[in-house]
Amino acid sequence: MSAEETAKSRQVEAICERHANREGPLLPILHDLQAAFGYVPGEAIGEVARYLNLSRAEVYGVVTFYHDFRRTPPRPHSLKVCRAEACQAVGGREVWATASSLAADPACRVDVEAVYCLGNCPCAPSVQFDERTLGRLTPDRVSSLIAGAVGGEAS
Ligand code: FES
Repeated sequence: MSAEETAKSRQVEAICERHANREGPLLPILHDLQAAFGYVPGEAIGEVARYLNLSRAEVYGVVTFYHDFRRTPPRPHSLKVCRAEACQAVGGREVWATASSLAADPACRVDVEAVYCLGNCPCAPSVQFDERTLGRLTPDRVSSLIAGAVGGEAS
């Protein structure tokens, strides 16, 4: 086990211990793991299972049941694409198709997720790129946003 893996394992153990005396500790542990690492690391699932005397399948089932638990490290940028009706009616489907297709590339620097209304309906189709809400998106424009997302900053 590398020094980094050992440190991570100790952190997982400390999080488990923090919740040891709680009733129903699994969800708080998973939330704390995600807060610490940005996702729930696969190797932590076994450690949590051992600590709580559960099977790996039980812990994995909870992680995969809740949409908010990530199983991979977050990418540097986030793109939320509105898939609600007002946006879908004016080109949002094409924006979503483009964005989700580009995000399927493992080298993509942008996490893409569907949301249902960003409160920007008059400017549909809308997205939120990192903290900025943008309207009147087109497939070309969303491609440019994703292509421009290099390093820790979008260009
Ligand atoms: S429906 Fe897309 S912003 Fe409201």
